[in-house]
Amino acid sequence: MNFTDILLFWYAANRRSLPWRETHDPYRIWLSEIILQQTRVDQGLSYYVRFLERFPSISDLAAASEDEVLKLWQGLGYYSRARNLHFSARLVVEKFHGKFPSDYKEILNLRGVGEYTAAAIASIAYNQPRAAIDGNAYRVLSRVNGISEPIDSSVGKKTFRELADLLIDRKNPGSFNQAMMDLGATICTPVNPDCLNCPVTGLCVALRDQLIDQLPVKNTKTKQRDRFFNYLIIRYEGHIYLEQRLEKDIWKGLYQFPLIETPAETSVENLCRSNEWLTLFQNRPTVIVNNDPVPVHLLSHQKIHARFIQIKISAELISLRHYIKVLPEELDSFAIPKLIERYLSSKPLKN
Ligand code: ADE
Repeated sequence: MNFTDILLFWYAANRRSLPWRETHDPYRIWLSEIILQQTRVDQGLSYYVRFLERFPSISDLAAASEDEVLKLWQGLGYYSRARNLHFSARLVVEKFHGKFPSDYKEILNLRGVGEYTAAAIASIAYNQPRAAIDGNAYRVLSRVNGISEPIDSSVGKKTFRELADLLIDRKNPGSFNQAMMDLGATICTPVNPDCLNCPVTGLCVALRDQLIDQLPVKNTKTKQRDRFFNYLIIRYEGHIYLEQRLEKDIWKGLYQFPLIETPAETSVENLCRSNEWLTLFQNRPTVIVNNDPVPVHLLSHQKIHARFIQIKISAELISLRHYIKVLPEELDSFAIPKLIERYLSSKPLKN
């Protein structure tokens, strides 16, 4: 048996049972693929179920507010995925009368859908022979075939694409793609792959030549940027203040406490002398109740060093009128970054 046949045979017996595998509804498959971009299956499952409960059809999703979509997405990270999902749902309703497109190019044109996701949708929902090549597929292909071309070089990308196009099963492209995903996620893992239980050991060049730890090859390491967030929990007569992140940056659309970002770690004393602080508090008396650093929050390209400073003010300040004034118990209805959610569950705010 060749690679493709062995893979499909293995998949038939070992496939993970997942709700989006019980349907051909392109809306559901699209939703699952967007959730699973940068998210593990076990983490994404409950979000998938909740999204479908709330938005059984694409027009239900299109009719929702962005705030509601972000709230449902809370905790999944990469919030542009949620905004793009919502935008594309509206586009499908307006442009295609709510019928999800079946043409690969049209699918690829949707916001938030790249080549991998478009291929996954086209193959799983419409049985089109498009190979979906993500990190899992690169790993499996490079190890099984002993390819040391870097996966992030243009030559490497072309090599892997040509190989995947050759290997994909034309009758069952959706199963082929999902078998690659499952093999990569459960057996051919980045570290300590489970070669003992792998169905293609007999064909695996990396195993034969002891290259498992060297493959796949990647040229560039992703750089991490350190950022320093000083959140101000400003308390006035039981209320707190929130703002929405509107800039093109992480967490766009989510809510947060007023934030002073500094280029480096700063003492509270220095923070109190910063322009941002003086603009906010205008030399009015403030009492610092708490200064809580929290563990570093890791994103794919950023390390967020955050602290939460609780401040009592004795008069309502004009400078705060741009903020949203809420009671602590109302916080639940706002979409907030996981970093803030974690802090609040360790230190609930009281009235
Ligand atoms: N990751 C991305 N898409 C997936 C799918 N359809 N099944 C399992 N894992 C996935």
